[in-house]
Amino acid sequence: MWGGRFSAKPAELMQAINVSIGFDRRLAAQDLAGSRAHAAMLRKQGVITSADEAAIQGGLQAIEAEMAAGTFPFREEFEDIHMNVEARLRELIGPVAGRLHTARSRNDQVALDFRLWVRDACDRTLLQLKALLVAKANAHADTLMPGFTHLQPAQPVTFGHHLMAYVEMFGRDAGRFADARRRMNECPLGAAALAGSPFPIDREATAKALGFDRPTANSLDSVSDRDFALESLSAATLTGVHLSRLAEEIVIWTTPQFGFIRLSDAFTTGSSIMPQKKNPDAAELVRAKVGRLLGSFTQLTVVMKGLPLAYSKDMQEDKVPTFEAFDALELSLAAMAGMIDDLEPVAAKMAQAAGAGFSTATDLADWLVRNLDMPFRDAHHVTGAAVKRAETLGCDLSELPLSELQALSQGISADVYEVLTPRASAGSRKSYGGTSPDQVRAQVARWKEILK
Ligand code: ARG
Repeated sequence: MWGGRFSAKPAELMQAINVSIGFDRRLAAQDLAGSRAHAAMLRKQGVITSADEAAIQGGLQAIEAEMAAGTFPFREEFEDIHMNVEARLRELIGPVAGRLHTARSRNDQVALDFRLWVRDACDRTLLQLKALLVAKANAHADTLMPGFTHLQPAQPVTFGHHLMAYVEMFGRDAGRFADARRRMNECPLGAAALAGSPFPIDREATAKALGFDRPTANSLDSVSDRDFALESLSAATLTGVHLSRLAEEIVIWTTPQFGFIRLSDAFTTGSSIMPQKKNPDAAELVRAKVGRLLGSFTQLTVVMKGLPLAYSKDMQEDKVPTFEAFDALELSLAAMAGMIDDLEPVAAKMAQAAGAGFSTATDLADWLVRNLDMPFRDAHHVTGAAVKRAETLGCDLSELPLSELQALSQGISADVYEVLTPRASAGSRKSYGGTSPDQVRAQVARWKEILK
């Protein structure tokens, strides 16, 4: 490509460190789309003739067909996807291929291709998983389970409520991807090498043709900016954190000790030595993938740090971490969606656990506040004594004889027992966003509307 200035071939080592076709071939579709838009614009602006454009578009179409058929020759000697396409175009249509690169540089070309790829990746995330979680939550709006703090039984909640907590997390994640997308949706094509172009190009036209809101406003920034990738990787990392928390819960819930849910054979593996085992490998791997996501984010952040304007070859190192991160994210999301769909709660075990550990103690204290007009701090004290007494007698709060309760506070009457069951406890938490089945169903309805 630059034979005019050079008389010798690059050293083999130079090629080895320089070549990127092995990974940037994933930008092939984006590269072709960019070239098509560029060629059409050049013709409209009178920079190339209609005949030249027709030849170029025909060649690009032939290349697209070769790629679809798997016959396109990706060659290391042409370094990257941009030069591979151009070299092939020249083979197919002759020297007129050279007119395509008028008013364009690989610097704005790669900025464009990569931006288009990241934009697509952001658009693909999260939808399916949220819909599945909402459906599962709806089916289990009444299923009781223990709510935890410090992983100690705290207060009874519903399984639907617990799942909807993740819908909120993934909803914020989707918002972050959408927000990043809004900012990235400006077209760098036409910035050329770094300073813009002396040709009468129409950057509005190419931006529009490629689905961007507008062209980028500074040519130096256009070719040196990778914020769009960093923002997306940051959103992906946080999504990975949320996935890992849900995955961890699945790991815990499937232990025989908890036994809250069952995963089918489809999402578990056996052991080569222990015949009884059914391991939640998929959940464990989803839990681990966030390491790759954060690794990618860290990698690209370090690549970009301290780079002077405008383009530097360092930036070729943007792609591998980004591709790897989105591959990991998409696989994790699909696996998690599969597990959510697959898992079945063991309602009896959950309900039993929901009442364990004196989980309705707060309900007793609240009863004292409401019925005996006790200050909450005093009610807390009385209830603490009741828990201690129940522990000594080896029974649950709801099994403490009334005389025992009255010994702690005279005014307590038999109707106190109505608030001491897990179902009453969860059902009573009707405050907005609370765990009562009605509230859960209201949130399910809200999300169904959002996801429409
Ligand atoms: N393969 C390069 C990359 O990924 C394309 C841009 C190369 N530009 C250049 N002036 N060497 O960044």
